[in-house]
Amino acid sequence: MDFSAKEIKLKDGRTCVLRPPTKEDAAALIEYLKATAGETPYLVSYPDEIGFTASEEEKILKERREDPRSVMMLAEVDGRLAGNGGFVGAGSRRKLRHRCEFCIALYRDFHRLGIGTALIVYLMELARQAGYEQMDLNVHEDNAAAIALYKKCGFIESGRLHNAVKLDDGSYRDYILMYKPLTE
Ligand SMILES: CC(C)(COP(=O)(O)OP(=O)(O)OC[C@H]1O[C@@H](n2cnc3c(N)ncnc32)[C@H](O)[C@@H]1OP(=O)(O)O)[C@@H](O)C(=O)NCCC(=O)NCCS
Repeated sequence: MDFSAKEIKLKDGRTCVLRPPTKEDAAALIEYLKATAGETPYLVSYPDEIGFTASEEEKILKERREDPRSVMMLAEVDGRLAGNGGFVGAGSRRKLRHRCEFCIALYRDFHRLGIGTALIVYLMELARQAGYEQMDLNVHEDNAAAIALYKKCGFIESGRLHNAVKLDDGSYRDYILMYKPLTE
């Protein structure tokens, strides 16, 4: 889904641009996926599992931009990619079309500046425009920063998925399931 770029002021006074990706962003996005997967245990991939080539990533970016029911949104500060958030439909069947699934990750250098909040607020607006009634997410039970952000943005805890994730050290984590009604 295409959308207009938006500028927001960060807590440190800098300006952040929230915008759709273009094919020129493909290489920076692959680097970002690998780096953030190494910086935090809370994303679904390990760095060695990010195997896209730039041309595969370009194809994904094009598909996401042309899909009226999904959004990928980049956050850029001083011309540098700070992170990314987005949503995709929970499914194309009629029984699932009212829900979308949300995800977000920022480089560590850009945490606590207000980017996460701004991405969620703008993504919720676009999800409403796309016709969704509810935004869902799942988050590691020990990801206190993300859980605090989601609660601040109005997400409600609805349950748990037992042992949803198994880390390479053999330990398990539950997913906390959360949803945000978009019809209020
Ligand atoms: C989760 C994440 C997106 C938060 O983004 P952010 O831009 O740092 O969040 P914001 O600056 O908008 O913070 C909003 C609120 O969230 C809460 N919060 C954010 N980081 C926090 C932290 N480290 N500890 C406690 N609360 C935190 C606070 O309530 C904060 O409000 P405040 O700054 O006024 O106190 C970011 O930490 C991140 O990318 N983490 C790594 C990837 C990840 O975990 N993704 C989520 C997977 S489900």
